[in-house]
Order: sequence, then C-alpha cells, then structure tokens
Amino acid sequence: MERKKLGLGVSVVALCGALALAGCAAGGANSADVKAPETGGGAAAAEVTVGANGVSHIADWQKVYPLQTASFLNGANNIEERDGDNRSHSHALLAEEMEAFVPDATYAVRCMACHSSWFKEITESHGITVDVLNAPMASFADEFTDMEFWDCRTCHEDDPANTLKPTNIVFNKISKSYNFPEADTVCGQCHYADTQKMYTQLDIDDLYKNGVSPEGMFQTFLEFEEVMDPEIGGNNVMSLDEETGIKMYGEGSVVDLENFQGSNHQNLGMTCASCHMPQTTDPETGETYTSHDASGSPIENPVALEYCLTCHKNQGIDSPEAMKEFVLDKEDQLAEGQLQLREDLVTLKEAITAAMADGSVDEDTLDEARMAWSKGRWYLRYTYGHEGENVGKKAAHNFDQMMDTVQQGHTIVTEGINLLS
Ligand code: HEC
Ligand code: HEC
Ligand code: HEC
Ligand code: HEC
Ligand code: HEC
Repeated sequence: MERKKLGLGVSVVALCGALALAGCAAGGANSADVKAPETGGGAAAAEVTVGANGVSHIADWQKVYPLQTASFLNGANNIEERDGDNRSHSHALLAEEMEAFVPDATYAVRCMACHSSWFKEITESHGITVDVLNAPMASFADEFTDMEFWDCRTCHEDDPANTLKPTNIVFNKISKSYNFPEADTVCGQCHYADTQKMYTQLDIDDLYKNGVSPEGMFQTFLEFEEVMDPEIGGNNVMSLDEETGIKMYGEGSVVDLENFQGSNHQNLGMTCASCHMPQTTDPETGETYTSHDASGSPIENPVALEYCLTCHKNQGIDSPEAMKEFVLDKEDQLAEGQLQLREDLVTLKEAITAAMADGSVDEDTLDEARMAWSKGRWYLRYTYGHEGENVGKKAAHNFDQMMDTVQQGHTIVTEGINLLS
C-alpha cells in the first residue's frame, strides 16, 4: 500500500503500521493470531497508553480486546468481495475510500463528522465555524499527527467493555428531541440524515422536531432551508439545480437510523448491532464476543444468518441459504420500486425542462411540479441512503414501510408529471 499523503497517509500508516499488518487491505488480522481478551474493565484500561492529544488508539485497545479488534480489522478483507476495482465499503478502510473519492486529503473537515472521530479534536480546538468546516482535512495534518479515521472511542467513550455512547458531537446536538436506543445511535450517529449546512447552529435547531417519517423530515428540511448557512459547502439540507430551478433536499443522507424506527425487528427489541455485530464464538478459546465487522453484510456472515434463523425458522425458512434467498427476494422487490421511482424522476425533470423551454405552463404550476420532484427524490433517498447501483439493499430494515414510501413517492411524482401534460 503506497499512500503516504497528508492527513490521510498519516492515518492509514498509524492504523496499519501500529498493528504490524502486512498491508491492511490484503491482510486483516485473524482471530487465531491474537490472545484471548482480558476480563475486567478496570484492569484493562490501566494497560492502555494515552497518545498525543489525549487520545487512545485502536492499537492500544487491541492489546486489551484482541477479538473485538481483530473482527473489526477483518472487515478490510471485504475489499475484493464486492468491487473488483479495489474499492471497499468497509469501516476498516474509510481512509482509503475517501482517498479514492477525493485525493490528497482535500475533502472538507465537515465530511469528517461521519467519516472520522477526529472531527471532535479539530472542532474543539478551532471551533465549528464556516472556515473550519470548509477547510480541507489536509490543513490539520501537521497539528494532529496521529489521526485515525476510525477508532474505538467512536462508540465507546472510554473503556470499550463498559461504555457505549455515540461521540459524534454534531449528531448528539442536532438529534435532541428523539430518544433512540443506544445500540442504534452508535451506528446512527453516522448513518442518519445529513445536515452539514446546519452545523453552525446545532444548539438552536432539531433534526427530529417533526419526527422521523419521510414526510416529517421533508418538512424539517423545508424549515432548515430558511435558516441554513449556504456558505457551508455541499449538497445537504438543500441544494438548487440552477438550470431547472429544482431543489434537492437531504442529499448525501444515509437514512438508516430513521427508517429503522418502528420496524418489525425494532419492535422485537433488535438493534443495528443485533444483525450487523452478531455474538460470535472464538474457535480457539470458546470465548463469546461481539463481532466488530459492522460494515460487513449480514447475509455473507454465517453467524448472523444462524441468528436470523432463530426466529425465521418459524416461517419455514430452514437453512442459511434459504434465509439469504428470502432477504434477496425482498431486496429485489424494493429495488424494483426504487428503479421505477428513479425513472419517474427523470421523466418529471424532462417535463419541467420542456415546459420551461416552451413556456406552456404558468410559474405556480411549474413550482408545484418542482416540489413534487423534490419530495419524490427525498422519498427515494429515505429508502436507500447513498446512491449508486446499490438499490434494494436496505430491505431488511423496514420492508413494509420502505415499500410504502417508494409507492407514495411514485404517486407524488406521477401527479407532478400529470400537472405538466
Ligand atoms: C451525516 C454523516 C455523513 C457526512 C457528513 C458525510 N458522509 Fe459520506 N457517508 C456516510 C455514510 C453513513 C456512508 C455509508 C453509506 C452506505 O454505504 O450505506 C458514507 C459513504 C461515503 C462514501 C462511500 C460511498 C460511495 O458512494 O462510494 C464516500 C466517498 C463519502 N461518503 C464521501 C463523503 C464526503 C466527500 C463528504 C463531505 C462532503 C461526506 N461523505 C460526508 C455518512 C456521511
Ligand atoms: C460502531 C460502534 C463501535 C465501535 C467503533 C467499537 N465498538 Fe465495541 N461495541 C459496540 C457495540 C454495539 C457493542 C455491544 C455492546 C452491548 O451489547 O451493550 C460493543 C461491545 C464491545 C465490548 C464488550 C464485549 C463484547 O464483545 O461485547 C468490547 C470489549 C468492545 N466493544 C471493544 C471495542 C474495541 C477494542 C473497539 C475498537 C477497535 C471497539 N469496540 C469499537 C460498538 C462499537
Ligand atoms: C464514524 C461514522 C460511522 C459509524 C459510527 C458507523 N458507520 Fe457504517 N459506515 C460509515 C461510512 C462512512 C461508511 C462508508 C464506507 C465506504 O463506503 O467506504 C460505512 C459503511 C457501512 C456499511 C457498508 C455499506 C456498503 O455500502 O456496503 C455498513 C453495513 C455499515 N456501515 C453499518 C454500520 C453499523 C451497523 C454501524 C454500527 C455498529 C455503523 N455502520 C457505524 C460510517 C459509520
Ligand atoms: C434484521 C437485521 C438488520 C438490522 C436490525 C439492521 N440491518 Fe442493516 N442490513 C441488514 C441486511 C440483511 C442488509 C443487506 C445486506 C446485503 O444485501 O448484503 C443490511 C444492509 C445495511 C446497509 C447497506 C449495506 C450495503 O451493501 O449497501 C447498511 C449501511 C446497514 N444495513 C446499516 C444498518 C444500520 C445503521 C442499522 C440500524 C439503524 C441496521 N443496518 C439494522 C440487516 C439488518
Ligand atoms: C427476534 C426475531 C427475529 C430475528 C432474530 C430476525 N428476524 Fe427478521 N423478522 C422477524 C419478524 C417477526 C418479521 C416479520 C414477519 C412477517 O411480518 O411476516 C421479520 C421480517 C423480516 C424480513 C421481511 C421484511 C419485514 O420487515 O417484514 C426480512 C427481510 C428479515 N426479517 C430479515 C432478517 C435478517 C436478515 C435477520 C438476521 C440478520 C433477521 N431477520 C433476524 C423476526 C426476526
């Protein structure tokens, strides 16, 4: 791995180097290589050295909790499984992914709210101002030389055995009116609706003031539009397409936390961690621990599939393969609805462009059509998070509600199309 560039290079080297892996992407620690974890949080914490800036690192906690750490690092092996093109979506390779997407650590500090726990250090030292938020990460590389993209304190405030708490200061402030279960917020602190243009006024506003439904959140974005800071870059909250006058709301959002609420699974007491971080037994020691390969796919993880079967056997699903098929079938159904809605949006946009060109429709009607596009677009995003060809993937989260949301989006956009025809 030859990537020694600015802040990014530093973070990758700190992670891979300190753990002496033969290249993070290729290697990944194996649970067979590491010792059984110590028990007793107090004794554990005493072994951890606190580094520069008062921060302990993965390498420190690995000595104390090798199984959890090894499972996390194993996520790096997902790289070839999904994209033949050397890209990964693993938490263990967040730095590499950002570098592939935006080279030379020129991505803005505000992105780091959900891509690195060092957002906290940077903004605590320099404040959450427009200048800091828009500055490239590279400009802080010299000051915070031991930056890692991901570390244990992202979800564990202190000794991981004893604490579970989201550290994303942005999320903690802007989510004030909603109480999610803690094991959901540790994931949801990054997998939630993106609000970068509100980062300078976290104390005064509230992302969930109108609830977590697609409709309620769309309303919230409309209200945020009135007070957001347009000087903060990016597409989130609201961005305008100059050519058509169409507004996009909630772009960049990954709405997993919100759309999981009220699902069948949540009603049974399950959290993100139940499926994405299943209880796993170490073959060497027989020790049971929480798998920390949270960005891996549950349907590629035999342990997770066995867990699904503890309930789904009752539906006549009798093997891991059958469980996987069941999920993929639901994903296909959702994908079909999403692709239809995507097509609807293209049609409506074309109709708006055509109507603007030939002047056949009055401005109020055009605005109504634009609003239909905006809302439909948000409804689509609500059901899949990051765009791409990756449709249908979140079907297991709240299938009925997502199918319903996509159907509502289809109706809204179709009405928009009809306005112009
Ligand atoms: C509100 C939290 C949040 C913020 C802020 C954020 N991201 Fe992300 N980003 C995510 C999450 C969560 C994912 C994973 C989504 C998934 O795959 O389901 C992601 C995925 C990505 C990916 C990989 C997925 C892909 O499409 O290839 C890239 C690249 C990325 N983000 C870049 C950025 C950049 C650049 C910024 C700043 C402009 C940014 N992100 C700001 C939460 C955020
Ligand atoms: C994305 C959030 C997240 C991050 C980051 C994270 N953990 Fe955890 N961790 C969890 C969750 C969720 C649990 C389960 C807690 C529960 O059930 O109460 C957990 C539990 C634990 C436990 C308790 C024992 C067990 O296996 O359940 C240990 C020890 C632990 N984590 C170590 C670590 C270490 C070491 C790191 C850094 C390499 C780390 N964690 C990073 C979410 C996280
Ligand atoms: C610090 C922010 C952060 C936290 C905390 C976090 N994630 Fe992520 N997650 C991301 C980002 C960013 C990506 C995108 C990585 C990429 O595409 O390179 C991602 C990717 C993923 C993926 C893979 C998505 C894909 O497109 O393949 C899954 C699954 C996932 N996360 C689940 C979880 C779960 C479950 C938790 C809680 C245990 C969690 N995440 C906690 C930021 C976070
Ligand atoms: C009932 C089990 C279950 C629960 C609970 C659950 N997930 Fe998932 N999640 C899945 C399955 C199954 C997939 C699809 C994986 C696949 O198709 O490869 C998935 C997909 C994802 C993906 C996208 C992966 C990709 O390939 O694009 C992300 C991100 C994610 N989940 C995050 C979360 C978060 C955050 C939570 C909590 C708010 C959560 N999940 C709750 C089972 C679950
Ligand atoms: C504690 C019990 C339980 C566990 C464990 C469980 N499920 Fe479910 N699951 C349910 C119930 C109940 C339903 C609703 C069934 C219905 O309405 O017919 C459901 C429904 C689903 C659906 C259909 C969509 C929906 O929401 O109705 C999918 C997909 C699914 N589960 C995937 C998974 C996956 C993947 C796992 C494991 C990673 C898992 N489940 C683990 C109880 C569970």
